[in-house]
Amino acid sequence: MFLHISNLKKSFGTGDNCTEVLKGIHFEAERGEICVLLGPSGSGKSTLLNIIGGIDHADSGNISINGEKMEEMNEKNLTIYRRKHLGYIFQMYNLIPNLTVKENIEVGAYLSKKPLEIAPLLKTLGLYEHKDKFPSQLSGGQQQRTAIGRAIVKNPDILLCDEPTGALDYQTSKEILTLIEDINLKFHNTVLMVTHNDALKAMADRVIRLRDGSILEDYKNEKRIRAMELEW
Ligand SMILES: Nc1ncnc2c1ncn2[C@@H]1O[C@H](COP(=O)(O)OP(=O)(O)O)[C@@H](O)[C@H]1O
Ligand SMILES: [Mg+2]
Repeated sequence: MFLHISNLKKSFGTGDNCTEVLKGIHFEAERGEICVLLGPSGSGKSTLLNIIGGIDHADSGNISINGEKMEEMNEKNLTIYRRKHLGYIFQMYNLIPNLTVKENIEVGAYLSKKPLEIAPLLKTLGLYEHKDKFPSQLSGGQQQRTAIGRAIVKNPDILLCDEPTGALDYQTSKEILTLIEDINLKFHNTVLMVTHNDALKAMADRVIRLRDGSILEDYKNEKRIRAMELEW
């Protein structure tokens, strides 16, 4: 298995205020899979993604990616690992406001030894004619496309998406999901996509449902459908 997560636990707070947010998470994903993590707000989805992304630490448990154990990495190796292997897409696009579309994407390329070429990527993203605009001159969908560009320009092994369409309308959401799917088909990155939208499970190879910090359901979806065909 490419990604292997076992017995991951995480609490916030101390004493009487201590809440266990992840109560022993176990799951696996193969390379190139789209894995959708479902669950209501507060179920621990973002916490889990942040731990996998090396942004936060678990209290206990193991994560291994392609045989490399995250808990054995020191801060420096963790930073290198994040740069080399992970792309992160958030609900709020987190673009740098005084950089253009192209420059925002170049920030991602700068962190990689083998970045994708920018011009073809801008075309894949549907942003080529907007490449010199600033984020404030773009629609929400175009801003998210730029953020996706920044995350994937280094061609990461794993693309972590936290509610990537949470701030977008229905049609734009489908376009963004289609873009994530196209990227997955083209580059075979493993996609971990967190959402509270149940409909997205149909575009996944693997569906994991969280509730109150535990896994409620974990199954393979043999008949993945195209994002454009989703309805909700
Ligand atoms: N930094 C933090 N400090 C304290 N509590 C937190 C922190 N981050 C998340 N939580 C709590 O952990 C629970 C799960 O949060 P989160 O992982 O963001 O859930 P989700 O993404 O599924 O909505 C929530 O109850 C939230 O309040
Ligand atoms: Mg969240």
